[in-house]
Amino acid sequence: PGPARPAEPSGGVHAPGRAAIAARHLRTDRWWLAPAVTATVLTVFVVYSTWRAFANADYYAAPYISPYYSPCIATDCVNMRGGADLQIFGPWWGLSPALLVLIFPLGFRLTCYYYRKAYYRGFWAAPPACAVAEPHGKYTGETRFPLILQNVHRYFFYFALVFAVILTYDAALGFRDAAGHWGHMGLGTVVLLVNVALIWVYTLSCHSCRHIIGGRLKNFSKHPVRYRMWGWVGRLTAHHMALAWGSLVMVAVADLYVYLVASGAFADPTFF
Ligand code: FES
Repeated sequence: PGPARPAEPSGGVHAPGRAAIAARHLRTDRWWLAPAVTATVLTVFVVYSTWRAFANADYYAAPYISPYYSPCIATDCVNMRGGADLQIFGPWWGLSPALLVLIFPLGFRLTCYYYRKAYYRGFWAAPPACAVAEPHGKYTGETRFPLILQNVHRYFFYFALVFAVILTYDAALGFRDAAGHWGHMGLGTVVLLVNVALIWVYTLSCHSCRHIIGGRLKNFSKHPVRYRMWGWVGRLTAHHMALAWGSLVMVAVADLYVYLVASGAFADPTFF
């Protein structure tokens, strides 16, 4: 048995065993800026996405489909394949198909290690920043329900891979024109391509992905392929925060683009 662990403090920064510092923090920089920006951008994203998810309209402008509504799983979903992809749910559901689709990417991002840090700080001030005491009197981390459910992140990663493949398929279909002939390229094609590229790098930079590829090995020399792949993923993981923001903004931009074209706000510029 190892050394006895010190008794767990009852909670809060003023609990017994914690340093007796009266000031809430000793930082002199603008430490509040990052959590404030995080909370603002995430709020805008959530409000926009909620509106679009419930809209159940203007998500398809041939040959582009919004990433919020792909794959089309409702029978009344209009898409370039001349009907729903899977036709699982009938119109009697009365639900926007986006509500069913978005559960998976939303779960992936909600349980993401980086986003957890971002929204714990931005919305819950737990803690607001490094070396700034949090206002809560009790701290149980992610050891209790409901936050212990954050551990399902790895499973959402598997779903995220499936969605990346589906969005790649959608982006490829952006090279067909409205009549279904290959050889088309419009601004929408570029938008969907950039979106899916960012989705891929964000997904592959996931910490769970890095562990799935290079974790649980006793030595790398016996697993040269996994070692090499682990190195590649590790390089992406180092930029996970930037990729998380980039792909978040881009997925909303891609949806907005399809919305604007589908609603007739402007015509998709065509290159060839
Ligand atoms: Fe962020 Fe997995 S850790 S997506």
